Amino acid sequence: MTTAPVIGPEERLPLGAAEADPRTATRRRYLMCEPRYFTVSYSINPWMDPSAPVSTDVALRQWHELKATYERLGHVVETIEPAAGLPDMVFAANSGTVIGGRVLGSRFRAVERAAEADHYRRWFVERGYRDVVMPESINEAEGDFAWTGEVLLAGTGFRTDPGAHAEAQEVLGVPVVSLRLVDPRYYHLDTALMVLTEADPTTGRRAQIAYYRDAFSLGSQRVLRHLFPDAVIASDVDAACLGLNGVSDGYNVVLPREANRLATELTARGYNPVMVDISELRKSGGGPKCCTMELRD
Ligand code: ARG
Repeated sequence: MTTAPVIGPEERLPLGAAEADPRTATRRRYLMCEPRYFTVSYSINPWMDPSAPVSTDVALRQWHELKATYERLGHVVETIEPAAGLPDMVFAANSGTVIGGRVLGSRFRAVERAAEADHYRRWFVERGYRDVVMPESINEAEGDFAWTGEVLLAGTGFRTDPGAHAEAQEVLGVPVVSLRLVDPRYYHLDTALMVLTEADPTTGRRAQIAYYRDAFSLGSQRVLRHLFPDAVIASDVDAACLGLNGVSDGYNVVLPREANRLATELTARGYNPVMVDISELRKSGGGPKCCTMELRD
C-alpha cells in the first residue's frame, strides 16, 4: 500500500480481484504553491494553534515530496510564486475552480487570506485563461467544490456562502448540488469528501466518491446516499487525520499516510493508495488536496 508502482497516465491498470469496473488513471494538471512562507500565525479553523511549533522547512520537504509524487504518477504540476505574509497561500485548492477552461476565482472569508485571491487571478490571466471571473459571494473554491464529472458538489456551513453555489452554476455552467457541513473540524468540503472516479457520460461510467458521513447535515447525508449509493464511507479515524483530503486520478489516490483504513478499503475497491506525509501542513488544517488545485482545461 505504501510503495506505489509508478504508472503512466492513460494506461489500463490492473484490477482488484473483486472489481468488475476497471479503474483508469488519467493524466491531470495541477497548480501548486510552495510553502516558502508557511507558518501558523493566526487561527481560522480548529486545527490551527499559533502557539504550537511549526517548521517551514519540514512543510517545504513534505510539499516537494507531494509534488514529486504527482510527477512520478505522470501528472503535470504548474506552480505559482508564493507571496510573503500569506502563510496559507500553499493551499492552492482554495483559490480557483477550473472546469472546461473556465475559471471561477475565490473570495476568502478570513481577512488574513483575502489577498491570495488576486495572486491566483493574475496567474490565470498571465497564463492566457480568457474566462476568469471573480466571485461576489464568499467562495473558497475547490476547498468547497468537488467536480464529479457530472455535477459540482458544493459545501457550505463554515466558509463558502450558499450564494456562491448559484454563482458557480451560472459562471461554470454546470449543475450544482449544495451540501451542508456541520462539524467545525471539517470546515471545507474537501476535508470530508473526495471524488475517486469521475463520471464519464460517453462510457456510462458512474462517479464514485468517499466521504465522512457525520461531517454533513442529515439532509445532506440523504442527498449523498441517494446520489452515490456505492460510496466509500470513511471512519472517524480516517476523517480525523484529514484522510478525506486526498487526490485521485481515477486509480492512484494520494492520501495522508495515517489514513490506513481508508487505504485498505480503496485497495479492495480496485484503487491504488499512495501515502504521503503531510503532517506539518495539517497543523494549518490542510492535506494533499488543499495543496492542489486541478486545472481542468
Ligand atoms: N489554514 C487554511 C484555512 O483555514 C487551510 C485551508 C485548507 N484548504 C482546504 N482546501 N481545505 O483556510
